[in-house]
Amino acid sequence: MKKIAIFASGTGTNFEAIAQAIDQKQLDAQIVLVVVDKKNAPVIEKAQSKDIQTFVFCAKDYPSKEAYERDIVKACHQQDVEWIVLAGYMRILSDVLLTAYTNRIINIHPSLLPAFKGKDAIGQAIDYGVKVMGVSIHYVDASLDGGKIIAQRAFEVEKHWTHQEIEAQIHAIEHVLYPETLKQLWEEQK
Ligand code: GRF
Repeated sequence: MKKIAIFASGTGTNFEAIAQAIDQKQLDAQIVLVVVDKKNAPVIEKAQSKDIQTFVFCAKDYPSKEAYERDIVKACHQQDVEWIVLAGYMRILSDVLLTAYTNRIINIHPSLLPAFKGKDAIGQAIDYGVKVMGVSIHYVDASLDGGKIIAQRAFEVEKHWTHQEIEAQIHAIEHVLYPETLKQLWEEQK
């Protein structure tokens, strides 16, 4: 069983999807820590309601990225975290986390990478008028939404879909693809 930390900044629907896959025994893992960089993020309450330890921090309280990441690594080590799963965590990682968890940090991004990196990937894709959109899961390195791609799933955009409908489609794919990909990744390593 893998002990994992989920890092998030917002709503936490991917956190919920992974937690549900674990509860339903589809994924042999335990979420031992949720790391959040926003004091009012709804994901905090979701983690607490499942009695999962949270580490909530404010980047402004620290002199540098390295300083808060050192505290995050400490919290991860205290919980024996083996893998870090980023799910809507809106920060680029420094070497502190990347060297502590080399090749054991994964992210999900709402586009077919390497297209539309960074913020509002869905909005960027809509503005571009793309006809095929999708979701990518990738290893994390020091670049923005870089790192080797592990899995992708695409879908065709119907002409009449609104931004909201596209977002709902992206989320529906993410909630299936993330647990599936983690399962496969960890099974391959056995
Ligand atoms: C997801 O769309 C994910 O791809 C992106 O941030 C969003 C997080 O959503 N990185 P949620 O907080 O899991 O609902």
